[in-house]
Parts: sequence; C-alpha cells; structure tokens
Amino acid sequence: MSIHIGAQPGEIAETVLLPGDPLRARFVAENLLENAVCYNEVRGMYGYTGSYQGKKVSIQGSGMGIPSISIYAHELIHDYQVKNLIRVGTCGCIQEELDLGSIVLAMSASSDSNTNQMVFKGLHYAPTADYHLLSLAHKKAEEMGLQVIVGNILSSDLFYLDDPQRYNVWIDHNVIGIDMETSALYTMAARSNIRALSVLTVSDNIITGNVSTSQERQEKFMDMIKIALEVALEQE
Ligand code: HPA
Repeated sequence: MSIHIGAQPGEIAETVLLPGDPLRARFVAENLLENAVCYNEVRGMYGYTGSYQGKKVSIQGSGMGIPSISIYAHELIHDYQVKNLIRVGTCGCIQEELDLGSIVLAMSASSDSNTNQMVFKGLHYAPTADYHLLSLAHKKAEEMGLQVIVGNILSSDLFYLDDPQRYNVWIDHNVIGIDMETSALYTMAARSNIRALSVLTVSDNIITGNVSTSQERQEKFMDMIKIALEVALEQE
C-alpha cells in the first residue's frame, strides 16, 4: 500500500486511465469493465481494476490540479510500477471556433504552474505526450469515426481568475485549451521513462462562455473513454 492508494502489489494494471473525478472512475468500472474490483477508497479517490475485452486495465481518480495528479502519478509509477498513464478529463477551450464536446489529444502541455520551475531550476522544459500513445489514439479515433484535434494545451493552476486578458498570449500561440494536470503528468512520465497521454473533451468555451450540459458531457465522456480503452487494449 502507498500513502494515498490502498492497493496491494499486483492489483493495479500496467495501463491506468486517470479521470479527475473519482465518480467517473466508478462509472467506467461499473459500465465498461468486466469483473471490476475496487482497490482504493482512500479519500474517496476510487480506483478499480477490471478487464476490457480481456485486457487488464485500471482506472484511478486523480483529483483536480497538478498537486493532486502528481501524488497519484508518483505512487502509481513508483509503488505500483505502472507503464501507461492515460488522463481522461475535460478542458476549457480558448479557440473561439472550437465546438463543445470536441476531443483533444494533448500533444504538449504548456503551464503557468511553478512546479516545473522548481524541477528545472528556472529553465524551461516542454512536457510532451508519448508519441506511441498519441499516434495510436489518433488512429483509434479515426477508426471509430471520431474527429480529434491534436495540439498544445495549457495546464493552469487557477480555474477562477478575473482577468479577461489572461489567455491572450496563449491564444496567440495556438494553444487549444486549458486543463489543470497534463504538464505535470507528462513531465513525471518522461522522468520515469513510462508513457503518458491526455485525452480531453471540451466542456466549456472560455472565450464565448458556452458550457456543455451534463448530458452532453456524459455522451462525449464515453467517446473519450472508448478511445482510451482501445489504446489500452493494444499495450503489452
Ligand atoms: N479551466 C481549467 N480546467 C478546465 C476548464 C477550465 O475552464 N474546464 C475544464 N477543465
């Protein structure tokens, strides 16, 4: 057992899906995995292992923000020796023309967080998705007839900030959307020589103020999860 995950060694699969919301982990376990077993309830941050078309897969809530996902990613990597971490979450988009519900594959993740400044002592690192997972997710989405957008996102430490100009520099540099986790996930995976990818659905358009209904979110969430599960299926 690690500090925040109550699983025994061997109870977590090599490929782990990481939704921010632990109730999404439970929903996927109950609806898309076979023989799912809950291995973690510590802090209500549910984690399950089950099988998808015969492949052992885990799904673990990561919480919101870089500090929270960093804790779960660290323990999954170091205490449970996982090999593939696939974040499945939402993002706010900052490109006006992008529709709610669009699926984004985060090729890279910029950040306004100070965490990588600490790691890289003031120098600048470019957190990048694993190419194998990224290209496979793209292929699977195409096969499923789902359109995806591939590009750079921003992992921000603040959800609420009353500064309308705040995103201009990111918009001007073609950043697609905002989440709060991916830059740390990619950095940690690279450091441990494992694979990571974020598959995100656009839940709100920060520029226009449009927000998805919960039903729309649920439908698009399933598309995103299916892409991630199809990628998981092809891992060793
Ligand atoms: N900001 C940051 N993260 C998010 C957002 C947002 O607007 N929407 C979904 N995740």
